[in-house]
Amino acid sequence: MVITKHVILVIGKGGVGKTTVSILLSLTLTDLGNSLLYSLDPAKHLIKYLGISDVMRHHKIADKLYACQLDLDVAIKKISDHYVELIRELSPSLSVLNLDNIVNTIKYSPGIEEEVFIRELHKLYSTEDYDYVVVDTPPTGITLRTLILPKLYTVWIEKLIEIRERIISLRYSIARTLGKEFKFKDSVLEKLYEQRNIYTTLWESIKGSNTSFVLVSNPETMPLLEVHEVIKFLNTEFSKEPKLLVMNKYTNTPESEEVMRSFNQLPYSKVFIRKADRPPSTLSDMVELLKNLDKDELLKHFK
Ligand SMILES: Nc1ncnc2c1ncn2[C@@H]1O[C@H](COP(=O)(O)OP(=O)(O)OP(=O)(O)O)[C@@H](O)[C@H]1O
Ligand SMILES: [Mg+2]
Repeated sequence: MVITKHVILVIGKGGVGKTTVSILLSLTLTDLGNSLLYSLDPAKHLIKYLGISDVMRHHKIADKLYACQLDLDVAIKKISDHYVELIRELSPSLSVLNLDNIVNTIKYSPGIEEEVFIRELHKLYSTEDYDYVVVDTPPTGITLRTLILPKLYTVWIEKLIEIRERIISLRYSIARTLGKEFKFKDSVLEKLYEQRNIYTTLWESIKGSNTSFVLVSNPETMPLLEVHEVIKFLNTEFSKEPKLLVMNKYTNTPESEEVMRSFNQLPYSKVFIRKADRPPSTLSDMVELLKNLDKDELLKHFK
């Protein structure tokens, strides 16, 4: 059986309700199959909403609904350890450096969070256990950078591969001149091919039809502005359009009229979630909120 998993990235300005919408969406999607809600949000709010006891583990929340909260610090530590291992394996002579220092430095490196998110996304696309994966994303800036990086990394890695292949070819010529045996297998080159494969697969997956973008706004100027920016980004970088726009915490006030008019003009499917009297904070609050939504209307976009 070919598993056609659907990955849904929920994006929006801080506080608009990304986590809430991700929960509502993943709950609804259980009507169509097994659904995993994966939160990349560094603030780890999912733990509070779903009463999850620990991070980095898939928890069963309800029938066909699973959830996992990433812990950025734990994930960064894992990556640092992995790099130290890689240095030991590929370049043992560098082990004279204090590798523990490298671990401590990596966690402050620019781009390390994006690196974590890229790895997590790649894992999510590779898992075969779910029909739907709903990703509760970190703040928009870092999310967009993460989405674009596989393309950039592919360009860099192509260059590195070119250089490494040239080195090997030179080593071969020298060995032949000296009449020595030459070992073609090169672990650095193999690692580079492996990485290239990860980045190109990820890039294709994000661009592909099994990835959808759900953009969340509130009836306020700044969140809507951010939605406009994300739409532009998706169009330019991926030639894609959002699958669904969600107007969350919707109220019918005169102040929101102008924003709502502008939102309604956007040529994409829309869902409106009313502002609840009390902020939803538990799974049963979410189930309550869901009662006001037309499930079939929501599901039809992901069938
Ligand atoms: N429809 C709604 N009605 C009333 N309150 C809501 C609604 N949706 C979300 N909230 C409340 O708004 C706050 C922010 O929601 P949520 O945590 O889902 O946003 P977020 O975009 O994930 O935030 P962050 O950027 O901090 O991760 C929470 O207190 C939540 O309970
Ligand atoms: Mg959140």
